[in-house]
Amino acid sequence: MDKTFHIITFGCQMNVGDSDWLARALCARGWRQVAERDAWLFVVNTCSVREKPEQKVYSELGRLAAYQRGKPGLMAAVGGCVAQQIGAGFFDRFPFVRLVFGSDGIAGAPDALDELAADPKARKTLLDFMASYPEREDVLSPLAEAPAPAFDADAGEPDAGPAQAFVNIMQGCDNFCAYCIVPYTRGRQKSRAPEAVLAECRARVEQGAREITLLGQNVNSYGLDPSAQSGGLGMGFAQLLRQVAAIPGLERLRFTTSHPKDIDPAVIRAFGELENLCPALHLPLQAGSDAVLRRMGRKYDRSKYLQIVQDLRVARPDMALTTDLIVGFPGETEDDFAQTLEMMERVGFESSFSFRYSDRPGVAAVRMTPKVPGDVAQERLLRLQSLQNGITKQTLKRLEGREAVVLLEAKSRRQDGGTPSWRGRDEAGRVVNIRLEDGCTSGRELAGLMVRARIVEAKNHSLIGERVGQPW
Ligand code: SAH
Ligand code: SF4
Ligand code: F3S
Repeated sequence: MDKTFHIITFGCQMNVGDSDWLARALCARGWRQVAERDAWLFVVNTCSVREKPEQKVYSELGRLAAYQRGKPGLMAAVGGCVAQQIGAGFFDRFPFVRLVFGSDGIAGAPDALDELAADPKARKTLLDFMASYPEREDVLSPLAEAPAPAFDADAGEPDAGPAQAFVNIMQGCDNFCAYCIVPYTRGRQKSRAPEAVLAECRARVEQGAREITLLGQNVNSYGLDPSAQSGGLGMGFAQLLRQVAAIPGLERLRFTTSHPKDIDPAVIRAFGELENLCPALHLPLQAGSDAVLRRMGRKYDRSKYLQIVQDLRVARPDMALTTDLIVGFPGETEDDFAQTLEMMERVGFESSFSFRYSDRPGVAAVRMTPKVPGDVAQERLLRLQSLQNGITKQTLKRLEGREAVVLLEAKSRRQDGGTPSWRGRDEAGRVVNIRLEDGCTSGRELAGLMVRARIVEAKNHSLIGERVGQPW
């Protein structure tokens, strides 16, 4: 078989980052990233956070299996959270799956894939959890001119541009929120050594990254896990943030995800002090009622959340807040839900990801009653989303006439003919589309540049800008 591969990614940014690393590691071993129809190896990086993305994995593998008809010997590898959950069960269901790897096992996946390519009868699982952060080999070389990994975010952000890098600072989660499968699929929290984080960040900036997003399920508890303490990390998240921010040439720094219970006042202050720390924070609220938050095991209440919001806005008045919300958690009453709507208005989230509660195997909420009927939860979700749409519209509208600096990512999805339109993000992470007359229509050249723009129109979920002055 040809050493050609194609990666399909579901789930959160940690999965996107993992797929990106795996693609580089395979390229370093002589594999080529190609379009789906040309690939001999499919890698499916999976998400198990709700039932729907899990089901998508099975339908996707069923669809990919059809390629075998013309290509006997073609193989698939399944990684990520469903892989960790189902393990070797994939071999029975889909005989062309020959590798199943979890989030700690991914470090060994490139070598395993080389072995499997050489031995068509072999199969392998890499599902053990490690006691400390499993450092992966450095593969910092930019991907050759290959198609970017296909990305199907159930709730996530679309593809990033060439000047944006995602750097893992931890793995796993210790919080065991009552609804969440992540601690089971990603294992215990393991902080990555600060030297390794800083070395990767520096290398990415040297290679042209202008923006770095630090990634972890709960970045605010960086350095607090037992594996970090025994390794003597001696650095909390606020300090790490400062050190990364100080890397010469780094223009934008972001991080995700933050748990409200762990956010340190020093991190809040950093928003007012570090010039390149972007004024945007994704701070999952999950629910607006104290009773529901308690049953979810979130360990904060409305007033603590509102205090954080107030402190953030004192530190950085232009802070853009986004969130995650769950509706229909077991026992959620109409009054509980009304409090979620009320929090949404009070905080004025610029946007949010909202989900209907979905039972996941083994989590505490499975046993909680009464369950909220599906149609009730669905109706609440629609009300929540319609309130959000109104707030999003208003917040975007207020930006009309203002100036923003936009880091260009790629050509806009919609091109209406004439001057090409480019998509990028302002400092707060809002999508801005700008027509740029540079005669530079080949696609890649403008991606990664920063341009100053005036916002001329607010759309429902994005902004239209007009260039002011020269690219930076
Ligand atoms: N580590 C992140 C979130 C990871 S999961 C954090 O703690 O914020 C992403 C989002 O999926 C969660 O914030 C939650 O809103 C949603 N989610 C998780 N489990 C869910 C479930 N069982 N049903 C519905 N939504 C869920
Ligand atoms: Fe899941 Fe809670 Fe951990 Fe987030 S903090 S990954 S919601 S258990
Ligand atoms: Fe999904 Fe696993 Fe991320 S369950 S959200 S891919 S941590």
